[in-house]
Amino acid sequence: MGRMISSIAKHKQAEKVLATRRRRTLGASGTRLSYPTLKGMGDLARLLKESWSLVEENRDKVAGYFYARIFLAHPNVRDLFPVHMDVQRARLLGAIVTAVQTLEDPERFDQYLRGLGRDHRKFHVEPGHYEVVGGALIEALRHFAGDQWAIEYEQAWADAYAVIAAKMLAGAEADTNPPYWHAEVVAHERRSSDIAVFTVLPLQPLEFRAGQYLSMECPRYQPRLWRTYSPANAPRRDNTLEFHARAVGAGWVSSALVRRLKVGDMVRLAAPMGTMTLDRRSTRDTVFVAGGTGLAPIKSLLEELTRYNRTRWVHVFFGARNRDDLYDLAELNRLAARYPWLSVVTACSDDPTFGGEQGNICDVVARFGPWNEHDFFVSGSGPMVKATLKTLAELQVPPIRIKYDSFSEMS
Ligand SMILES: Cc1cc2nc3c(=O)[nH]c(=O)nc-3n(C[C@H](O)[C@H](O)[C@H](O)COP(=O)(O)OP(=O)(O)OC[C@H]3O[C@@H](n4cnc5c(N)ncnc54)[C@H](O)[C@@H]3O)c2cc1C
Ligand code: HEM
Repeated sequence: MGRMISSIAKHKQAEKVLATRRRRTLGASGTRLSYPTLKGMGDLARLLKESWSLVEENRDKVAGYFYARIFLAHPNVRDLFPVHMDVQRARLLGAIVTAVQTLEDPERFDQYLRGLGRDHRKFHVEPGHYEVVGGALIEALRHFAGDQWAIEYEQAWADAYAVIAAKMLAGAEADTNPPYWHAEVVAHERRSSDIAVFTVLPLQPLEFRAGQYLSMECPRYQPRLWRTYSPANAPRRDNTLEFHARAVGAGWVSSALVRRLKVGDMVRLAAPMGTMTLDRRSTRDTVFVAGGTGLAPIKSLLEELTRYNRTRWVHVFFGARNRDDLYDLAELNRLAARYPWLSVVTACSDDPTFGGEQGNICDVVARFGPWNEHDFFVSGSGPMVKATLKTLAELQVPPIRIKYDSFSEMS
């Protein structure tokens, strides 16, 4: 491990070192100035960026070396990672490098890092692993930087990594929830060639808020691969959770959930996350825009509204490529028939004989309105969410009134 930090105590010590550097960004009383500046952390940020630039163009090789160091020295750590590491190859390393380099605003990342540490319990990560990973990180950087590596670089990475690890460990230690919940599949229905709706029953109660998502592992078919899915129901007395999954391309987990999962199988669920929740104090009318299985969290929010709403008009815009992908329309129509405040508009972008609206759902939303006094909730694929946000900006809907979850990259 070379000069890598050797214990959690040293992580804490390093946090103090950084805290000292950080103090320069604080007022005399320790009160935060209005904007954190890079001044205090300038040296560290510069050293990290400078040293990363020495190896950046070899980032794939750095990742390969990094994992090889970990797995050769600690073969049992391999069992924490998925069988196929091709897609994820640089994921952990990339995440660490990003985290280390954004440390210049540690307060902002405090919550994130604590959450990440809590979440790492689902990967069976234990405190001792942090030192192993940190050591491999520095070995890999040193190896690829060659002669240009300097002791200052090494210290900068060690300090920064130690602070991050300490925050993640603190988050993990403080969590009173189990690392994950075991849940049994109690219903599974294929709604189209690519879409399934299934229900699971956690063995212990799992609290969540309508509109949140949680990550799921399907150990029988795709062990150690976790992906996020959004419950499609508001919390229920019987604790069951309904999910809507769409099999994407060569997707590992989604195709198992749609094509292989069956009643009696067990899945694992990690702690709920996300802030696409209802503000009960808002009296605004509301628009939900869903693309494909992006309907799941929208239905969860709708179900919550059915429990208390009497005064807000609610409009659901549900879009898909073709009518088969409007897999839950019957249920939406049933809700609309029952609740006079609810209206549903459906659209297909690639099904010319479909009787509802034609076109991308964002364009359909724009044909209705005006919307500038409404709360908006948007959920679906990255491109769908991106296009909808653009349309809403053009319609002058203030961003503060828009909440969204994107299922994939928005780029
Ligand atoms: C907050 C959040 C909530 C989500 N909720 C749901 C949900 O309720 N229902 C649901 O079906 N999915 C949901 N997703 C998407 C889900 O987490 C997975 O990304 C998706 O199921 C693909 O996983 P996979 O293992 O099958 O694919 P991977 O093996 O991870 O990816 C395989 C290939 O497919 C591409 N890909 C990944 N996701 C998509 C996508 N959405 N569209 C097109 N291409 C993609 C990847 O770039 C890759 O090339 C959610 C995602 C997020 C971030
Ligand atoms: C500074 C410390 C670390 C940071 C910033 C970090 C960050 C991350 C992030 C952001 C992810 C992706 C999370 C997700 O997709 O849900 C991840 C995944 C993972 N991390 Fe860490 N991590 C750190 C330390 C560790 C350690 C010490 C281990 C133990 C070996 C570990 C094991 C894993 C595993 C097994 C995954 C899943 C990998 C995969 O799906 O390919 N991480 N990490």
